[in-house]
Amino acid sequence: MRNSSVLEVVPTGPVVGAEIRGVDLAAPLEEAEVATIRRTLFDRGVVFFRDQAISPEQHIAFAERFAPININRFFTKVDGFGGRIAEVRKEPNQTKNIGGGWHTDHSYDQIPALGSILLARELPEEGGDTLFASMYAAWDALSDGLKQTLSGMKAVHSSRHVFGRTDRPEQQDGRLGNAAAATQDAIHPVGIRHPGSGRIALYVNPAFTLRFEGWTDEESKPLLDYLYGHAARPEFQYRFQWQPGSIAFWDNRATWHYAANDYQGERRLMHRITLEGEALS
Ligand code: SIN
Repeated sequence: MRNSSVLEVVPTGPVVGAEIRGVDLAAPLEEAEVATIRRTLFDRGVVFFRDQAISPEQHIAFAERFAPININRFFTKVDGFGGRIAEVRKEPNQTKNIGGGWHTDHSYDQIPALGSILLARELPEEGGDTLFASMYAAWDALSDGLKQTLSGMKAVHSSRHVFGRTDRPEQQDGRLGNAAAATQDAIHPVGIRHPGSGRIALYVNPAFTLRFEGWTDEESKPLLDYLYGHAARPEFQYRFQWQPGSIAFWDNRATWHYAANDYQGERRLMHRITLEGEALS
């Protein structure tokens, strides 16, 4: 089927997320539909689609309408697609999930990935939700004084302390690997101007940010902890409940995400395609 629809955009809350209805992602998209999805993604930070029956090839074709695909260095790949689809998997006998803490992907890269398109392949009976938090809302809610201070600051991010390790369960059981490739360090503004929306987003995260540029770890920790507590406030969040055929497409520059690990003894298998981004300022 070809799409020729007017998409329906339904916000999922006051500040973050929107469900996009009336589109079949298995079919080629019209330019106007791509533009609506892109605009909504940049504005709301994450978009959701329901009841999509798409093959890995169609997942790739959809992703390529937005940006070139990033080949993930650390995740297990789905066989047969040149590394373009990564697996986010937890088996019934595994207790640790991937992404089970607030983070934004790839902030350790000089040019961080735009975002990811995550597709549910197998879900637990209950649980396994993904939470999203708006970093636009987090920035906007800071005082003018703190915004002014942070506007002149940059932060140091790294992959080394996360993907360079080999002792974590998901590394020992082979879901994550290639530790030798975890050599990325990057410095980005603490408040970035989003290249698509022009809005300012808070751009530090508990997983990959080490310190403020020119500050020690000890000096940085109290302010980073304050910002992490602030950014994780429920007012800035939306919790997405997956169903078979659900897709979440998030923007790493505008959101954090958190994969809830509340389905012990069950399998959850997601396919993730990550898109290349643009330089941040
Ligand atoms: C991730 O952090 O990329 C995984 C999110 C999820 O599995 O819900």
